[in-house]
Amino acid sequence: MRIAVLISRVRVEEKLLIQAFRREGADAEFIRVDLMPFELNAHNPFAGYDGVFVRCMGHLQSLYMARLAESYGVPVLNTCHTIRVCGDKLLTTLALTEAGVPTPDTAVAFSPEAAQAAMERMGYPVVVKPLHGSWGRLLAKVNDPEAAEALLEHKKTLGGYTHSVFYLQEYIPKPGRDIRCFVVGDRVVAAIYRYSPHWITNTARGARATHCPLSPELVEIALAAARAVGGGIVAVDVLEAPGGELLVAEVNHTPEFRNSIAPTGVDIPGEMARYALEAFARGAVGAGKGE
Ligand SMILES: Nc1ncnc2c1ncn2[C@@H]1O[C@H](COP(=O)(O)OP(=O)(O)O)[C@@H](O)[C@H]1O
Ligand SMILES: [Mg+2]
Repeated sequence: MRIAVLISRVRVEEKLLIQAFRREGADAEFIRVDLMPFELNAHNPFAGYDGVFVRCMGHLQSLYMARLAESYGVPVLNTCHTIRVCGDKLLTTLALTEAGVPTPDTAVAFSPEAAQAAMERMGYPVVVKPLHGSWGRLLAKVNDPEAAEALLEHKKTLGGYTHSVFYLQEYIPKPGRDIRCFVVGDRVVAAIYRYSPHWITNTARGARATHCPLSPELVEIALAAARAVGGGIVAVDVLEAPGGELLVAEVNHTPEFRNSIAPTGVDIPGEMARYALEAFARGAVGAGKGE
């Protein structure tokens, strides 16, 4: 099989994925999406490829390239649908809630005044997140009304237009860590604890990754979350509430995994490549499902 791995920068993950595809006997190549234009309705840029594996850094690059592949009927992972839902924290929370997957209490507001009213009702501290983003960037834990007022004004005045959609979430006092579960199709292949003295526990911000055993509850909630956002290859961020309840914070469509291979002992890129090749061979992934 001939696989296109779409990228905007070669990270460790993408090198490992190319090697994994090749180990599985596939002919895998990078396509740098930033280096050339893609003329719509001209010629199929994926002609000759049996599948397109999307690993761009930018959310919009991934979203639109997946949609382009779908428009040419080329099997693609993740699908445009999954990328769209995962790339937007509000759409993710709605999908999770509709599927009955537990999440922290969340509100959306469209003005600083409405946001502050929601925060008063929720009770401080409240977590404010950008709709789009990763690595824990621009997250705020707001402890009191004065800080809320200032943050909301700053976001509205200085932020891009999506920062005027205020995504507000109950703060979960978790036990110095969260859990990241790697879901590949209908399997959880690995999970890590991410420990940090900071309340934001992304490994990109220095959190320490250790192996997390796959309890039945964790597997159930991770699979339910992955299904809710449209499935594929995703990473589910799970918070442990003080009573032990598991809550899904978000789902990631292009997860990094370099820090998770050693602690778990799982060949995560190999799992991803094998699943992708099976899915592409079935030919059904994403084709015609664009929206
Ligand atoms: N509601 C919350 N309560 C407590 N901690 C949270 C909450 N939401 C997120 N976090 C912490 O912040 C980190 C980043 O949040 P997340 O929603 O995953 O955004 P990002 O897309 O930036 O990774 C999480 O891994 C977790 O450690
Ligand atoms: Mg996250």
